[in-house]
Amino acid sequence: MTATRIAGIGSYLPEDRVTNDDLTKFMDTSDEWIQERTGIKSRRYGKRRKETTAIMGAKAAAVAIERAGISKEEVDFIIFATLSPDYYFPGSGVLMQRELGMTSTEVGCLDIRNQCSGFLYGLSVADQFVKTGMYKNVLLVGAEMHSMGLDFSTEGRNVTVIFGDGAGAVVLQPAAEGQGSILTTHLHADGTYAEKLAMINPGSHSGVHFDKMGEPVEFGYPEAEHGSLFVTQHMLDHGQLFPNMDGQFVFKMAVQKFPEVIMEALTQTGLQPSDIDMLVPHQANLRISQFVQKRLGLSDSQVWNNIQKYGNTTAASVPIALCEAWESGAVKDGDLVCLAAFGSGFTWGSALLRWSAGDPA
Ligand code: ACO
Repeated sequence: MTATRIAGIGSYLPEDRVTNDDLTKFMDTSDEWIQERTGIKSRRYGKRRKETTAIMGAKAAAVAIERAGISKEEVDFIIFATLSPDYYFPGSGVLMQRELGMTSTEVGCLDIRNQCSGFLYGLSVADQFVKTGMYKNVLLVGAEMHSMGLDFSTEGRNVTVIFGDGAGAVVLQPAAEGQGSILTTHLHADGTYAEKLAMINPGSHSGVHFDKMGEPVEFGYPEAEHGSLFVTQHMLDHGQLFPNMDGQFVFKMAVQKFPEVIMEALTQTGLQPSDIDMLVPHQANLRISQFVQKRLGLSDSQVWNNIQKYGNTTAASVPIALCEAWESGAVKDGDLVCLAAFGSGFTWGSALLRWSAGDPA
């Protein structure tokens, strides 16, 4: 079997920069609280209708395709990861395909729903397709338009201040002899605590309600509502159409699972934390990344953090951070790069690869 390499990478961040002080106009929060708890100073918000999840994904994808040195007609499969799709259905993959003017080739589009781990899940799936020879140019995109679906009242502040919009994309190809490639990928999930970090409504769960910490709440529907429970007046009246998060619980799980899955990848390949040239973790929270760095004994130069500028962009955070690290010269051909993510589900994963995308133009 052949190995898979990242042949091109691109990212897209909307221009509209929203600082912590800007958020104080909507909710009771402060720059000090947000920076101290999350490390975030600002985030980007897409422009309504002009920068949807699929449109931002297309912009990042166009850069990745060009850098891979292929035409868009040569892409033979698309994988799109997001938790903030343009539509409930169909998924954003086909919308991005249309936006890119790629419908004539009729290539398959796979939509991935693995939240913060979406890019890692997509990378692993793409790796299998390329390794088996099924596809030669897989376009993998992670994109999010969080700002359209957050609670900007004080009630939602624990979640809203964390998230930002953006997109990242890679093109995966078979590696030539001697070229760096993906060495290993590892995926995990445990649905026990699915509601601890979730957006439960709208959904087909028949009207079970949960509080902000993901605990079930008793609620009896009047008979007349049984026709449609997808979006109800009760959900609108009680702010239940927004994401909820038990932040401290998520923190505890994340700092356990990140090191675990990174060590799994290293053990599988006979490598040590000291062999890592660059760890690009999902940008969940600066405190989580710092904890992981310390646990693995990594230096500052071995870990890429950009959550300070962009907030948590969920499925887009790993490719955005990886793209920035490469564009800045911090990731070079031959480097051992470790990617890792943890998020809602809970789902988590890691990948180790030898970088081989050449120099940024
Ligand atoms: N501004 C000001 N005060 C706030 C804010 C805010 N944005 N959010 C919450 N508070 C208040 C709360 O109301 C509470 O006030 P009270 O004591 O009067 O009741 C107080 O701050 C403490 O609230 P906690 O929720 O206990 O805050 P905590 O110290 O745990 O920090 C945080 C919250 C930052 C979310 C933290 O739990 C954390 O870092 N969790 C990790 C989860 C995470 O980073 N998720 C990212 C997305 S998930 C992922 O990508 C994996």
